[in-house]
Amino acid sequence: MKNKIRYISPRNFKSMVIEKNNRQGFSINLKKTNLTNLKKGDVLIKNSYSCINYKDILICKGNPGLVRKFPHIPGIDFSGIVIFSKSKKFKTGDKVVSIGQPVGVKTQGCWSEYIKLSDRWIEKLPKNISLKNSMIFGTAGFTAMYAILRLIESGIKKKTNSILVTGSSGGVGLFSILILSKIGFKVTALTRHANAEKLLKSIGASDIILQKELDKHILLPLLNSRFSAVIDNLGGHVLSNASKLLINGGKIISVGNVLSNNSNISILPFILRKIEMIGINTETAPRATRNHIWRELAKIQSNKLKKIFKTHKFKDLNLLIKKLIKNYSGGRRIISFN
Ligand SMILES: NC(=O)c1ccc[n+]([C@@H]2O[C@H](COP(=O)([O-])OP(=O)(O)OC[C@H]3O[C@@H](n4cnc5c(N)ncnc54)[C@H](OP(=O)(O)O)[C@@H]3O)[C@@H](O)[C@H]2O)c1
Repeated sequence: MKNKIRYISPRNFKSMVIEKNNRQGFSINLKKTNLTNLKKGDVLIKNSYSCINYKDILICKGNPGLVRKFPHIPGIDFSGIVIFSKSKKFKTGDKVVSIGQPVGVKTQGCWSEYIKLSDRWIEKLPKNISLKNSMIFGTAGFTAMYAILRLIESGIKKKTNSILVTGSSGGVGLFSILILSKIGFKVTALTRHANAEKLLKSIGASDIILQKELDKHILLPLLNSRFSAVIDNLGGHVLSNASKLLINGGKIISVGNVLSNNSNISILPFILRKIEMIGINTETAPRATRNHIWRELAKIQSNKLKKIFKTHKFKDLNLLIKKLIKNYSGGRRIISFN
């Protein structure tokens, strides 16, 4: 008879829970929770770190395009240690991570002291990346690296015109600047905030453009060509304006839609300057691409990393989320469960 290993499921541990109230919309609170039994392929993890992404805030606001079933535990990224496994892929003590997966959208998320997940959505923490560093990157850093790899694959060379990064003080923006400049590209940051200049330059931007300056040219079909590519996090009219600034053969790497899913684009830059647009979706990146992204992220050891994130304790998350819902500003926020 097979020797069955038993485990004692953690009980009454804390999770962030969004509940739908019939009249008042949504409430978010730290609550005591328990887990249902593990099925074949499930892994039980003690959480070490998580982080806050743009999508997390949309979910906390109750965005119906993302989550429809409540109560819901938000949180799309985490790193932690396996404490029990019903999967052949993982064993107790393994350090694991989940980034850019459907976790927290199609499944319960990871803003919880313990997490039960199918082994499909987790991977072993890559060598040379710590549990904490994996969450400093999170989906934002992972996506920035994906965008940069696609940009290089598309033929954009280092010794050419600058790369424009929009939404530059956000997570994807900050990582795009830091990584591009570290590997030798010249970068220009587009932001709404003049006071972000010092930070953006300190992590590698050679110059900045204020979004309101670019907005003045909204009616022109073409602008003087300046950039070899744009990594666009905003969509809407900013994507349209940025496309008018690209040189011959310039590329648009379309990442985000902070402003809008729709963009009123002039087709002249596409025809006259042979512009191409490349969309990326981290969630559907093939395994080989994910491995490539992790290998490249492991090389990004930079003192500049500590300029772009703040760490918060899990017990303070509720207050932080309530503040962010009222007055959101992008950037990297790490959550520590230790
Ligand atoms: N394609 C994918 O696989 C993928 C993966 C991850 C994220 N995304 C998307 O990428 C986008 C950026 O994500 P993120 O994590 O970087 O978000 P974030 O940290 O929230 O940053 C967004 C940035 O956009 C700018 N911004 C915000 N509201 C704006 C407004 N009303 N007008 C103009 N600019 C505004 C701000 O930069 P400034 O203050 O500098 O102006 C802000 O810091 C999101 O749309 C997200 O959903 C896509």
